[in-house]
Order: sequence, then C-alpha cells, then structure tokens
Amino acid sequence: MNLADGRTDPSSGSNRPSSGDSDGTGDRLVVTIDGPAGTGKSSVARTVGSRLGLFVLDTGAMYRAVAWLAGRDAIDPADEKRLLAAMDEHPVVSQPDGDRTVVEVGGVDPGDSLRRPDVESIVSIVAALPGVRDRLVDAQRDFARRHPRLVTEGRDQGSVVFPDASARFFLTASPEVRARRRAEQIVEKDGGSPDVGEILRGIEVRDRLDATRSEGPLIKPEGAIEIDTDSLDLEMVVERIVSIVRDSMPGGKSDHSEGTGC
Ligand code: DC
Repeated sequence: MNLADGRTDPSSGSNRPSSGDSDGTGDRLVVTIDGPAGTGKSSVARTVGSRLGLFVLDTGAMYRAVAWLAGRDAIDPADEKRLLAAMDEHPVVSQPDGDRTVVEVGGVDPGDSLRRPDVESIVSIVAALPGVRDRLVDAQRDFARRHPRLVTEGRDQGSVVFPDASARFFLTASPEVRARRRAEQIVEKDGGSPDVGEILRGIEVRDRLDATRSEGPLIKPEGAIEIDTDSLDLEMVVERIVSIVRDSMPGGKSDHSEGTGC
C-alpha cells in the first residue's frame, strides 16, 4: 500500500469542505477511521476527505503535539499535572489550513517535528494519561462542532469520541506488514536501510500500550466495519470506504454488507 500517496479524485476539485451549521447539527456527517499504526489511516482519511469534501482530523497528531510539548519544555511525559499546566499555557488546537488540518501548540506549528523519534518514543506515555485524553477528546468534539462534516482518524474515534458517527471503520494489518510499510516510508523520506525487526518491535510495544490503557484503548468500535489492509492498496481501501459512506447518505443504498467482508 502506498502510504505516502494522498491522491485526490480529479472530480473532487470543487469538493471543498464547508463548515456547515456552527451548532454542529443539521448538516453533520462524521466518518471515523480507527486502527493501529501502519494501517494507512492518515493517507486513507486524507483521500476519503478529499473525495467526499470533508474536513480531516488527525487525532494522532494532537497526541504527538503534547509529546512534542513535553520534550520542548523538558517535562517528564508521565507527569500529568505539569503536562496539563503546560497545555493550559500552550493549548493544542487543530485547525483547517487549505485542504489540510494543522495542529498548533500555543500558536506554534511543530510541523514535521511531530514525527521525530524522540516524540514517537514518548507519545504512548502521554496518550495513556486520562487528563490529557479528556482535554484532547474535548478539543476533537469542539472541532466537530465547528466543522460538522469530517473524517477523523485515531484509536478511539468511533468508540469513545463519536460513538454516534455516521459511519465507523476499523483498519487492520499484520504487524509484519505494518513494519514493512513504515520502513518503506522511512526510505522514501530519508533513504538509508532501516532495521525492519527493530521497527516491528517498536510497533508491538506501542500496540500493547495503546490496547491496554484504561482510557480510550485501541479497540474495534461496536458496529464498525473492519477492513484488513494487508492485501489492499490505498485506492482499494478508499474506494470501499467512500462507497459505503455514499450508500449510507440519504438516497444511497441501505445495504452496507456488500464489499465489507474483509
Ligand atoms: O496515529 P499516530 O501514530 O500518529 O498516533 C500517535 C500516538 O497517539 C499513538 O501512540 C496512539 C496515540 N493515539 C491515541 O491514543 N488516540 C488517538 N485518538 C490517536 C492516537
């Protein structure tokens, strides 16, 4: 699967998201995509958003932003009290910028720093802190109130944050495939020859932390449609999601079982 591919449908040029009703009712359409790292959620969400004219919310970037803040201000990532105080001072805010959504920390955009190894190595620790999760869940719901037509991706979007979403998806892939994809991404971006075994071990540690924390653990949301991406490319996953969401819209087909048995 080509994870770096954020292609858009040529016909989607005018498919710009609209903020809809400011109270979040009326024109609401929330699509959630959850699953572990390396299943292609970000690329899938971006492409689905572009095709359907939806805002895109990357909630992993919000947790990474808190980890980045901890690193920048030399805060122990497990020190919830200090982290929450730092978040009061430097709020984590997601906002649309053209056709993407940026995360700012106290008005600063950390950009690619969110993907740095030092951020990556502590993000599961901050993501396990209930107070941090409460704040970010509030911020995610607030984003949906301001932009009620959105596709949002993470670990708990369909289970905790938007259990009433219009359509919920859960992407999976074997750890080996996910490690290989991550290695390919690293080579594409930075070159070199990353150690796939080491990446695999990192993935397994993060999976365990994400799945066993008490709040917002990584689980398949009830009623979510599971898509095993091991043998699917980006386009196939996107096509499946887009057609299910379209079918669920007023006037679409009502039988969603077709094409979901994977
Ligand atoms: O999707 P990602 O790799 O950018 O996520 C970064 C971290 O944040 C990862 O440890 C899982 C965590 N996360 C979370 O706990 N809840 C979310 N809704 C999104 C991400």
